[in-house]
Amino acid sequence: MSHEISEDGNPAVQRQLDASRTQLARYATDLKTLLRREAAKTRQITRVNKQLKAYARDLKKSYDAEQRKNHELEQAYAETIVRLSLASRYKDEETGGHIERLSHYSKTMALCIGWSDEAAQQLFAAAPMHDVGKIGIPDAVLGKQGPLEEEEWDMIKTHPTLGASLLAGSSSPLLKMAREVAITHHERWDGSGYPYGLKGEQIPLTGRIVMLGDQYDALRSKRPYKPSFSHKKACDLILHGNERTKPAHFDPQLLSAFREIHHEFDGIYSRVIEETSGLIPS
Ligand SMILES: [Fe+2]
Ligand SMILES: [Fe+2]
Repeated sequence: MSHEISEDGNPAVQRQLDASRTQLARYATDLKTLLRREAAKTRQITRVNKQLKAYARDLKKSYDAEQRKNHELEQAYAETIVRLSLASRYKDEETGGHIERLSHYSKTMALCIGWSDEAAQQLFAAAPMHDVGKIGIPDAVLGKQGPLEEEEWDMIKTHPTLGASLLAGSSSPLLKMAREVAITHHERWDGSGYPYGLKGEQIPLTGRIVMLGDQYDALRSKRPYKPSFSHKKACDLILHGNERTKPAHFDPQLLSAFREIHHEFDGIYSRVIEETSGLIPS
């Protein structure tokens, strides 16, 4: 502490000046300590930040790996089910061509009513599984030539629920959609379908779309009980009906879309040959 006499020689002023200097020196020391602490804190924050970034990178890596694994698992599962669907076609009169065409009709219709490419593509992959439940129906019933007994019809009508139970329990969005399609593709807009007799919008749109394609293709194809019909006749039956097929079976929104794009259905029918290579999801 300085005891010099101030310029004006007043000892009281001098004391005050000394006190102020001491105080300032204390402030300076405190400030230095504070700055040191702040710098240490900043260093610590930077270190923690770096660590957090490293954790985030590791987490992202394991998340990506997990996603890849899930995706591969989903692909493998979906592929198994598609192969099962392809196997089920040997059990009745429908062919691999039918399954492939159904994918194309469904996607074309979905796009026409405004679905995104991604959603339409998912329906493309889900549609082939609609009849997978037929794997559980005896060959003698599925392949029977001639009219079916009532109990045989009842047996056939269980294929949507059988299929749905085969596809149940997966977290895969594709298989969830496939299950929805399997269980609803024989429901009709007017409530006269099976297995539940759902009506109108109670029937998921996926099921309504696949049902229209399924019906169109059945009309175009030869069956033990009917010849194959021309595109014109198939359109006429869907849009105007007969004793078997009624326009009331179909979602009116899909019927008006069908009026616009029926030529595309014809193109698909003529184009798709008896091959199945394009169906395995990729
Ligand atoms: Fe079916
Ligand atoms: Fe079918």
